[in-house]
Amino acid sequence: MNLYHIQNLEHYFQVYRHSVDQPEQFWEQIAKKNFVWQKPWNTVLNWNSDTAEVRWFEGAQLNITENCIDRHLETRGDKTAILFEPNNPKDPAEHITYKELHTRVCKFANVLKDKGIKKGDRICIYLPMIPELAIAVLACARIGAIHSVVFAGFSATALSTRINDAKCSMVITSDGSFRGSKTIDLKGIVDEALEETPTIENVLVVKRIHSDIMIKEGRDHWVQPLVDAASAHCPIELMDAEDPLFILYTSGSTGKPKGMVHTTAGYMVYSAYTFKNVFQYEEEDIYWCTADIGWITGHSYIVYGPLANGATTVMYEGVPSYPDWGRFWEIVQKHKITQFYTAPTAIRALAKENLEFVEIYNLTSLKVLGTVGEPINEEAWHWYNDNIGKKRSPIVDTWWQTETGGIMISPIPFATPTIPTFATLPLPGIQPALMDEHGKEIEGNQVDGRLCVKFPWPSMARTIWGNHQRYIDTYFSAFAKKYFTGDGAFRDATGYYRITGRVDDVIIVSGHNLGTAPIEDAINEHPAVAESAIVGFPHDIKGNALYGYVILKETGETRNHDNLRKEINQVITEKIGPIAKLDKIQFTIGLPKTRSGKIMRRILRKIAHGESDQLGDISTLLNPEVVEAVIQEAL
Ligand code: PRX
Repeated sequence: MNLYHIQNLEHYFQVYRHSVDQPEQFWEQIAKKNFVWQKPWNTVLNWNSDTAEVRWFEGAQLNITENCIDRHLETRGDKTAILFEPNNPKDPAEHITYKELHTRVCKFANVLKDKGIKKGDRICIYLPMIPELAIAVLACARIGAIHSVVFAGFSATALSTRINDAKCSMVITSDGSFRGSKTIDLKGIVDEALEETPTIENVLVVKRIHSDIMIKEGRDHWVQPLVDAASAHCPIELMDAEDPLFILYTSGSTGKPKGMVHTTAGYMVYSAYTFKNVFQYEEEDIYWCTADIGWITGHSYIVYGPLANGATTVMYEGVPSYPDWGRFWEIVQKHKITQFYTAPTAIRALAKENLEFVEIYNLTSLKVLGTVGEPINEEAWHWYNDNIGKKRSPIVDTWWQTETGGIMISPIPFATPTIPTFATLPLPGIQPALMDEHGKEIEGNQVDGRLCVKFPWPSMARTIWGNHQRYIDTYFSAFAKKYFTGDGAFRDATGYYRITGRVDDVIIVSGHNLGTAPIEDAINEHPAVAESAIVGFPHDIKGNALYGYVILKETGETRNHDNLRKEINQVITEKIGPIAKLDKIQFTIGLPKTRSGKIMRRILRKIAHGESDQLGDISTLLNPEVVEAVIQEAL
C-alpha cells in the first residue's frame, strides 16, 4: 500500500486505519521511504504523557535543507523552486530554480557564520514577503540556527518582546517593505525595538525599497555585499531529530506570547506528508499559498512542505487589493496556478467586490482550492466554489494550529466528499477526541465537545520556549493525557468534524489568533483607563471583530470620547500592531463579574452580539445590577 500518496477514499480509510493501529510503524515507513537521513533513528516514538515530553525519530541525524534543496539538485536542479511575484505587477516575477536556491541559501548561511552564528543560536527574522525571507529561514536551518520569524506587521514593542523572550543574537530585516501603494519603514520599527534588546549583536539589512535609513556602525550591515563575497559552498550542519528548527510565537489567552518550539525530523516528515496529500501535489504543479511566512501556514506550506516535495511554491509580496481586487486572479492566470490556498477572511473581502474582477481572468489551471485559519461560512464557501473553482475544484477546509505544525483535519481532494463548513476527516496519524466538560470523552456521532488529540503526531510543538510548565498547563492539563486544542467541534453522523470556534479567550480576527489578555493589558496602559474587557463579535469580512468594554478612571471623564477611542487604538497599535485594533469601544461603568472576581465574558459576548435578551441566569454574579447598565450603554 502506498502510504505517502493517498488516491481515493477507500485508500484513505485503509491508510488511516493503519496509522491508528500501528502509528509507529506507519510513520517509520513514511520517514524511511521519502526523506534523506544522515543517520537512522533508534526509536520512532518516545512519549511521556505525564510530563508532556515527546520525541520522534530519536537518534536520527539529518538536515532539513538537504531534504528541501540538495536532494532535488540532480533531478530538478533547473526547476523553479520559488516563484516570486512582486508587489508591483509591472515588475517582473522572479523564478528561483533549485540550483539558484541552493547557491543563495549557502551564501546566506556563510554570511551568518561569518557573523559568528552557531548551531542553537536564535535569529529573529523580520522581513516582508520577498525571496530573502525564505532564503534566510533556510540559511538558518542549514547551519542549525533556530529561526524566529516575526510577522512584519507587528509593532516595535511586539518585536522586542519576542526578541527578548528567545534571546536572539541577530535580526534580519529590510530597509522597508512595499504593501500595495504604501511603503513601510521596517528598519525604523527594528531600530525602535532594538532600544530594549540587550542580546542583539548584529542586524542584517536587505535592500528592498531603497529608502534612506539609519545604519548603526558595527551593528547594522547591508546584506548584499556580504552575500556577494560569501562562498557558495556550505556543508549542512548535522541536526539531531529533536534539535529545535524554529520558534514561532502565538498569542495565548493570558500573558505574553508563547514561543512554540518545533523540532527538526518530525516537523519535516509531517509538513511534507500533509502537503503532498492535502493538495494532491504533482510534479508539474504551480502551488500558491497566500499566507505570510510570518505565520505557521507560511512556514509549513510555503517553505518546508512544498520544498521537501520538490514543488514550485509561489511567494507574493503584496495585498489582494493592489492595484485592484483582481490581483489574485491575475496572478493565478499569469502563473497557471494549480493549487490556491488562502484564508476565509480574504475570500469574504474578495466576494464583496464586483465579480468582473474574477471573470476577466482565465482560472482553468486551478485544480484544488484551500482555506485555513478560521471557520469558513457557507456564503463564502459557495462564492469560492462557484466563482473560483467553477464547481470543479474541491475545496479543502484545513483545520490546524501553530502548535500542531501541520494540517490535522482536512478533506483529501478527489477522495473525501466535501460539505461546506466541515473540515471533514482527520488526516492519517491524527486521533481527535471530543471531550465533555467533566473531562470524559464523548463517544458516538452527532455530538459537540472540546476538541483534543489523544495520540502524539510528528509535528506537534514540543514545548514553549523557556517555559515547559506553561506548555503542560496550556495544552495537557485540561484533559488527562490529551492535547487540548482550545477549539470546540461538532462531529456529524458520518464522523465529519466541523470546528465551531475557540472555547478559550482567544479570538480569531481575519484569521489571526488574538489573545484577549495582551490587548486588555495594552488598553489598560492608557492613563485614562481603569479596566477593560475584550470580546469578539461577528464581522462580515474579518469573521470576528473586537469589541472592547472600557471603564475609565474618572467616570466624569470630560474629554471627547471619540478621541479617546482613537487613543486607545493607538496604544494597541503601538503595543501589538494594527491587527489588534478594536472595531467598537463601549465606555462602561462596570463589568459583570463572578464572585471570585473573574469577568463574565459570556455576558459581554451576548451583549456585543446584540443578544442581551438571552443572558440566562445572572443571579450568581457578584454585581448583577451592572448588567442592565452595560446593556443600556451598548453600541
Ligand atoms: O480556532 C482555530 C482556527 O485557528 C486557530 C489556530 O490559529 P493559528 O495558530 O494562528 O494557526 C492558523 C493557521 C493554521 C485554531 O485553533 N482555525 C484554523 N483553521 C481553521 C480554524 N477554525 C476553523 N476552521 C479551520 N479550517
